[in-house]
Amino acid sequence: MAAITLKGLKKSYGSAQVIKGVDITIDDGEFVVFVGPSGCGKSTLLRMIAGLEDITDGTLTIGDRVVNDLPPKDRGVAMVFQSYAIFPHMTVRENVAFGLTISGASKEEKDAKVAEAARILQMEHLLDRRPSQLSGGQRQRVAIGRAIVRKPKVFLFDEPLSNLDAALRMDMRMEIGKLHQQLGATMVYVTHDQVEAMTLADKIVVLKDGLVQQIGSPMDLYHRPENLFVAGFLGSPSMNFLDVDVVDVSGDQATVRNAALDTVTLTIRHSGIVAGGKARLGVRPQYLSPDAESGAGVLHGKIVLTERLGAETIIEAMTTDGKPLIVALARDAKFAIGSQISLRFDPEFSHLFAV
Ligand SMILES: Nc1ncnc2c1ncn2[C@@H]1O[C@H](COP(=O)(O)OP(=O)(O)O)[C@@H](O)[C@H]1O
Ligand SMILES: [Mg+2]
Repeated sequence: MAAITLKGLKKSYGSAQVIKGVDITIDDGEFVVFVGPSGCGKSTLLRMIAGLEDITDGTLTIGDRVVNDLPPKDRGVAMVFQSYAIFPHMTVRENVAFGLTISGASKEEKDAKVAEAARILQMEHLLDRRPSQLSGGQRQRVAIGRAIVRKPKVFLFDEPLSNLDAALRMDMRMEIGKLHQQLGATMVYVTHDQVEAMTLADKIVVLKDGLVQQIGSPMDLYHRPENLFVAGFLGSPSMNFLDVDVVDVSGDQATVRNAALDTVTLTIRHSGIVAGGKARLGVRPQYLSPDAESGAGVLHGKIVLTERLGAETIIEAMTTDGKPLIVALARDAKFAIGSQISLRFDPEFSHLFAV
């Protein structure tokens, strides 16, 4: 097993810098997820760790070795991709053993390691099948099996579940979580899916445009986002943002309002909030409750659309100043489209960002 340190890591393709100076510490045995929108540099960063991309600048350490110039095969890492890259003409057994065959392992060693991987992934009954006789989830398991038999210190996953349908994605997500518990290996997992990040990670790294936005536990990032990007990226449905006027600032308390929002006072947790200025108020859909009277922290609007999912009701409202607002209730409820709605939020669970 191994810790990984990225220090001042940069990557350029010609004149285009895509990784712009990244510092990340990954502890031994930790499950770290790199998450961010498409094109932010997640795969590039993972491939730099794997040794598949040159490092333009900075230092990469795995275990106690600087590995900048070490070839991929000597880094003790195994990578699992979105496209499974398994060979159609080989059986599952041959596919899983492929890396061992290349490195000249004996039949006994291969049999033992394949058997162990098959047991961990619960695919003993699939070993003599060919890939064409497997489902998407089973194929992905073969690719993971191929990584397991190499006993890597570090597993690198690049969007391994993106090609699977929703139900299977959830199953495989849980299997990867269990795999981490069983093996205790360091795992770095790249995804654009914030649900995968929230459920799998010990630590999430949010990336945007080749830069780290925030690093922390899922609940750190969810409850204490450091900027608007992180606040809007994690959580489903996304956080609502309202432009507000800052009426007054007193110590760490700010009083804000807008045309749809009754004056409310909340704690300042970010710099740049000044009296007489503008700010953006973030409120998660789950922290808005309907049937409020007017008063501090009440938002006024009209119902535009509702989605009743049984266990949950999603309401799309339009504030009286014409801004969309999403409400998520953890119960079934019926609301008439077009009717007025007043929503209360808890200032303790809201976020004020300077703009
Ligand atoms: N071989 C390459 N040559 C030039 N630009 C590249 C190359 N590979 C990736 N990029 C660019 O680097 C950026 C990050 O890409 P990538 O790491 O694949 O993003 P992500 O995995 O987050 O979607 C993108 O703007 C992409 O176009
Ligand atoms: Mg990618």
